[in-house]
Amino acid sequence: MAHRLRPVAPIWVAGRPQHGEEEFFITHPWDSAPVGATSWATPAQVETAIATAWADAEECAELPAHVRAAALDHVRRRLAEETENLAELICAESGKPITWARVEVNRAVSTFRWAAEEARRFSGSLQRLDTDPGAVGRMAMVRHFPRGPVLGITPFNFPLNLVAHKVAPAIAAGCPIVIKPAPATPLVALHLAAIVSETGLPPGALSVLPVPNERAEALVNDPRLPVLSFTGSEVVGNRLRAQVPTKHLTLELGGNGAALVTTNYPDRDWAAQRIATFGNYQAGQSCIAAQRIYIEEAAFSDMRDRIMRQIAELGTGDPSEATCKVGPLINEAAAKRVADWVAEAVAEGATLLTGGAREGATVEPTLLTDVDADSKVMREEIFGPVLVLQSVRTFEEGLAAINDSRFGLQAGVFTDSMSQAMHAHRTLQVGGVIIGDVPSFRADQMPYGGIKESGVGREGVASAMRDYTYQKVMVIPHTL
Ligand code: SIN
Repeated sequence: MAHRLRPVAPIWVAGRPQHGEEEFFITHPWDSAPVGATSWATPAQVETAIATAWADAEECAELPAHVRAAALDHVRRRLAEETENLAELICAESGKPITWARVEVNRAVSTFRWAAEEARRFSGSLQRLDTDPGAVGRMAMVRHFPRGPVLGITPFNFPLNLVAHKVAPAIAAGCPIVIKPAPATPLVALHLAAIVSETGLPPGALSVLPVPNERAEALVNDPRLPVLSFTGSEVVGNRLRAQVPTKHLTLELGGNGAALVTTNYPDRDWAAQRIATFGNYQAGQSCIAAQRIYIEEAAFSDMRDRIMRQIAELGTGDPSEATCKVGPLINEAAAKRVADWVAEAVAEGATLLTGGAREGATVEPTLLTDVDADSKVMREEIFGPVLVLQSVRTFEEGLAAINDSRFGLQAGVFTDSMSQAMHAHRTLQVGGVIIGDVPSFRADQMPYGGIKESGVGREGVASAMRDYTYQKVMVIPHTL
């Protein structure tokens, strides 16, 4: 399909559309055709965005809940109205298949809807203190106060909804926010800023600034942005942790998502379909994509065959076509890395069951087995359409294999036993255990984030609001 070149998008500096210093094109990962353009924010524009966020912090913190909620509801409505346009934009700048791009817009609508609801009920709590003789006659009121302006650094793989996951809770919690979108995919974030500008929030409430990664230091180091919420690679996340240890950090980093399929799981077709789909959706470019699949040995060959049949249904191609299930990766270099890791695993003795080939930025859905536990496709985050199937003798061995990772984001367990589910929940070293499904399941209101090297803090609207605020206690005598 021929791709449309959109007019140059303004950047959003403290709620106002502006032009930066140098225009650049955004290209479609499928065929490298230019699909839009914007400009880099100048150092002066970065300064204006930060200074205005800082200056407006008090006003944002004081906004009544009904004003915050009305603004968030407005954004929700406008996103819903523009679903098709936004989905086309996501598809064009990220190469995400159009059907998945529509899902992403719907999720962003839901993220803003949740934020409007959370803004209305973000009330704090009362705590009784007369549990000790020395505190009789007192109680505590616990309220959440904004920590101040937030810097949100967002990735290319969900260019709308992962921006929404930073912006919507910031508005709901009363924190100004400056977003630095991924350089490959700034357009949909800029469009979101245009929609937010319709709400009448203070100008400092939102800036969206395309800034080259090499120039992000000015934002990261600035003390007027005391909260840093970053979603991206573990390498960059760890660097940020070292660079600004005194800032309040939320880091959503990588994962090598695993699932365990038990022999007694009754619906193997469902399990196979979910594993095949979520190993390959958006070409595997999700931190919670299915990557390592452990199957109890009695079910292994049957599950392997079912998964292969499902993978055969996943056509690659132009992501703007409704038939495309697996589109390109973000660029050719990313696809080359994925194909190299697959070739390396095979050279180390793995069996290639299907796929492995690359054409341009597209990698065929790939299935490996008998993979060395230390190969990159097992240890690292592959971020590509690659699944590894490994046989395990027991449920316990499967749980241990899932835990044998430096990451800990989410894990899936296909079991219909409540006691196995409870045991997995206790045992797995991850931020989320998904029973009867893949690790890729995410509902936008639930706490989302990892342990180990998958990061710190939690997103999910209410959790992010807690992260952007701090608890302050007031101890009150009952006599008042
Ligand atoms: C991510 O890749 O971290 C986000 C996954 C999601 O929101 O579904």
